[in-house]
Amino acid sequence: MSLTQLRPTEARASNASRITSQTLLEKKRLGTPIVALTAYDYPTARLADEAGIDLILVGDSLAMVVLGHDNTLPVTVDEMLHHTRAVARATRRAFLVADMPYGSYHGAVDEAVANAVRFLKEAGAQAVKIEGGAARADLVRRLTEAEVPVVGHIGLTPQSLHAMGGYKVQGRTLAAIDRLAADARALEEAGAVAIVLEGIPREVAADITAHCSVPTIGIGAGPDCDGQILVFHDLFNLTFAPAAKFVRQYADAAGMFGSALKQYRDDVVTRSFPSDAESYHLPREVQSVFVSSQRLARKA
Ligand code: KIV
Repeated sequence: MSLTQLRPTEARASNASRITSQTLLEKKRLGTPIVALTAYDYPTARLADEAGIDLILVGDSLAMVVLGHDNTLPVTVDEMLHHTRAVARATRRAFLVADMPYGSYHGAVDEAVANAVRFLKEAGAQAVKIEGGAARADLVRRLTEAEVPVVGHIGLTPQSLHAMGGYKVQGRTLAAIDRLAADARALEEAGAVAIVLEGIPREVAADITAHCSVPTIGIGAGPDCDGQILVFHDLFNLTFAPAAKFVRQYADAAGMFGSALKQYRDDVVTRSFPSDAESYHLPREVQSVFVSSQRLARKA
């Protein structure tokens, strides 16, 4: 079938400028950094997509930064699907990845595959992300066989919060470095299209990146990864918590929203909002009749 035979929706999906896992691979080959960011809703995804972000992740950090939970564990498949759909509606160019939440891929493989398929089929994601290394290799292989591209995630894996005993930088001993390298190799061999490296020393991330044939995307892993990802709310100071060492805040949205909201409150309380110019008015001919009929009504 030629491109001209495609229906409009198919033609849009086939848009040559849409980023795919192949584009990410090509960026690694060329040494062009991959820019990734999380997003959870239509407006922020649209801004990210239009700003030229290459990869948008609907992260399970949703649980914390949007839904107000203490960690990522409570978020459900249905909640992740709901937000992924909104992000998909806004995303035209970026490679769209959805996080599989805790519990959705930790049991039977068939159930994990069925859950993952939902993100592509029902929500419009192009890939799913799962946490864990060698222990997930069989699952990554099965998902890949089921045509579900997988992004791996190793190092500090927030869904392992209780197993790790807190959020701790990983890969700080020689044995731990060897385990991380083996994890990356296992994911790569199983067919992962990219690997997130979180919370590991710069030197370890650089070494994994140099020996890995698929792109690495770092967060708290130094500048030598093939790409970088940040959580949207970290970048804009919207987390109500001190920023981690690896976060660079590019704007103070909390400050901006906060002062605008105080101003709005003051304007309503002092009746300076809305002004006459911000109000609708009667047409002149109706207004004169309306005013005199009011006068008559008051007299009666
Ligand atoms: O959920 C998330 O936001 C993530 C990124 C930190 C990589 O997994």
